[in-house]
Amino acid sequence: MENKELLLVPGPTPVLDEIYDALASETRGHTDPRFVETFKNAIANTRKLFNTDGEVYIVAGSGTLAMEMAVVNTVKKGERILVISHGYFGDRFTPLAKAFGIGVDVLQSTWGERVDTKLVEEALKANKYKAVTITHADTSTGVASDLDTLIPVIKASGALVIVDGVVATAALREDMGKAYGEEGYTIDIVLTGSQKAIGIPPGLAIIAFSQQALAAREQIGTVPAYYADIHNWRNIMANPAMYFATPPVNLIYAYDVALQIVLEEGMENREARHIAFGKAIRAALRSYGMIPLANEEVAAPTLSCILYPEGVDDGKFRASLASRGVVVAGALAHLAGKAFRIGHMGNTTATMLKQAITAIGEALQEQNVKVNIEEALNVFSQQIEDATVQS
Ligand SMILES: Cc1ncc(COP(=O)(O)O)c(C=O)c1O
Repeated sequence: MENKELLLVPGPTPVLDEIYDALASETRGHTDPRFVETFKNAIANTRKLFNTDGEVYIVAGSGTLAMEMAVVNTVKKGERILVISHGYFGDRFTPLAKAFGIGVDVLQSTWGERVDTKLVEEALKANKYKAVTITHADTSTGVASDLDTLIPVIKASGALVIVDGVVATAALREDMGKAYGEEGYTIDIVLTGSQKAIGIPPGLAIIAFSQQALAAREQIGTVPAYYADIHNWRNIMANPAMYFATPPVNLIYAYDVALQIVLEEGMENREARHIAFGKAIRAALRSYGMIPLANEEVAAPTLSCILYPEGVDDGKFRASLASRGVVVAGALAHLAGKAFRIGHMGNTTATMLKQAITAIGEALQEQNVKVNIEEALNVFSQQIEDATVQS
């Protein structure tokens, strides 16, 4: 099967033909040794992706389930977490934690900006937190967090580091074996979903726990969850021939192929490609007079939130793009109608992004905005060329 539309919402992302082929494999029983082999391989490759000596869990669900698994397995009722929020998805940790009686303090940036690390430092001095959540990239604002500055500060406080990689994993490195500054200053949990930079349809919640995060799970005893309790999945992840709840067999076939593609490209190359794509598409759109919400120093390589020039109607703009086969997303909350969001992650290619730049130029022209499509395409190509020369 082939994609008929260019899906550039910030997830789900375009699915490659070979991944569709894997999805369309004959469905086997979940204890069939042929499927079990594939699942084992996907688990082993997930460990490689995160470079972890801890444990990984791959279950049917979405990114939000993975967020819940992270919190509920490490923090108990009455303990506190600190949420570093760069938008709508950072904020999601607050009601989630509160649903389990966990205390929450939030450091919230102005949309489009980052939380100042000094404020994180101060909060960690003022209070004891069991864990701190970092949204690696926030899909509402297109702001990326700087793990290099945040993790040492958080780990120095003794708190666990939970990284929401829903719109970052498999595009940006989330190396759980890496020490940030000092030995032992490592990421404790990375969580994600299948539909973003991994490049398969929605439906898998994927999460990795460090040894320290696993120790936290043991320390809290029983947890107020059943499906989300990692204790119930541990045996299955060690031996997928065992049963707890039926795995989404065909999605795991697709995930296995997608991970092989990711590992073949290599995370260093993949990150460099995403950084280049992000810069290039924003530069091209700036040449149309469009302003990215986040400035380049904090902008996410995986998606961008782009403010409309004066007078452009959001509904008409996106409908016009859709009529050209290009699908982007509206903005969230107070930015609805004032901006749109475009994904440039996963198995998206430069050719796809050029198609989007052309369609965006045409949609703007329809609304009487003067733009030079050829120039925008040149800006894009030049940026990609510069990035290739530098790397
Ligand atoms: C950064 C981030 N975290 C969490 C989520 C929630 O994931 P899901 O919609 O798969 O439940 C999303 C969804 O877009 C996201 O972008």
